[in-house]
Amino acid sequence: MTAEFRLAFYNDFDLDEVVAIARAIRPDDFISVADLRDWNDNQQRAGRLSSRWLVHHDDVVVGSGYVGESPWLERTMMIVHVMVHPEYQRRGHGRDLLERAETTAAEHGAERVIGWTDETRPRAMRILERAGFRENDREWQSTLDLGCFDVTTWQDTIDRATASGMRIISLAVLSEERPDWKRELHRLYADIEADVPTQFPLMEMPFDDFEALILGRRLVADGFLVAMDGDQLVGLTEPQLVDDDPTAVAQEMTGVRSDYRGRGIATALKVTAAIWAKRRGFTSIRTDNAQSNAPMLAVNARIGFERDHATIEYLKVL
Ligand SMILES: CC(C)(COP(=O)(O)OP(=O)(O)OC[C@H]1O[C@@H](n2cnc3c(N)ncnc32)[C@H](O)[C@@H]1OP(=O)(O)O)[C@@H](O)C(=O)NCCC(=O)NCCS
Repeated sequence: MTAEFRLAFYNDFDLDEVVAIARAIRPDDFISVADLRDWNDNQQRAGRLSSRWLVHHDDVVVGSGYVGESPWLERTMMIVHVMVHPEYQRRGHGRDLLERAETTAAEHGAERVIGWTDETRPRAMRILERAGFRENDREWQSTLDLGCFDVTTWQDTIDRATASGMRIISLAVLSEERPDWKRELHRLYADIEADVPTQFPLMEMPFDDFEALILGRRLVADGFLVAMDGDQLVGLTEPQLVDDDPTAVAQEMTGVRSDYRGRGIATALKVTAAIWAKRRGFTSIRTDNAQSNAPMLAVNARIGFERDHATIEYLKVL
């Protein structure tokens, strides 16, 4: 049986086949066909590289090696992500896809590439390390089981954080109160994002990307919360819907403006989001945080998030 490789751009491939590989590797992966389409559509709109080496066996896609630019990274740093269906692993496809993805990145001007695997996948870690990737950072995936989250015990925490007149409101309310809410929220998001601990500087996400990716299809206007001090937006937490799991919430960014930290605002935002999620019938909230982000990990631990596995971030200088 011969393996055939082809390079696809944007959505020029069968997205279902690629999602099926991701799910065969990790059944609880939140990836979806609609997510891939959103990402690729937005990359195309922004004129950023977003391509995928696919390996076929008898016309069936059994592996994929993604290479793309990112709205958060400088153009000389690109993302690579390789996956091979478990039934087709140990045939050299992973190494081959990684090499092709790196070559494509270099041809498009990349000087560094960044990739991820998790600590439960020693083979993937070995492939990356043998190819010259070095561990750069680790993130913890953790989950709050809403079945064990007691909504009645948190009112004091919320009251203390909002005692000075601070309000926690949803995007649904913000958008009614303030005509320029999208730009104001983008400003807050960008300020917070600049403070997320990373091993390399993140670029400010352009407004168009913010609108497409953060305020896009998976936005929940009554669950996305903003902390307001008077007319100032000072904190936010961003729960998103998960396409193929109606019971779960993915909690993406949580952050507080630097001059408002240490007053319990992040805790109050996350607790209010958990109360909202439980009342809406969701059963769990999943989030990811860098191991170096002590304040965020402390907030999560206090609320009852439990750590699952670590995702390892790898970097290679080409
Ligand atoms: C993480 C962040 C949201 C916390 O906001 P905050 O409003 O200051 O958080 P709170 O005041 O509610 O709680 C902070 C907790 O961290 C603890 N903490 C602060 N610094 C810490 C440290 N270096 N080590 C351990 N715990 C620490 C505090 O003691 C407090 O816990 P406690 O309430 O049990 O005492 C804020 O630092 C931030 O916006 N960072 C940048 C954005 C970011 O990294 N977001 C996470 C990625 S999504």
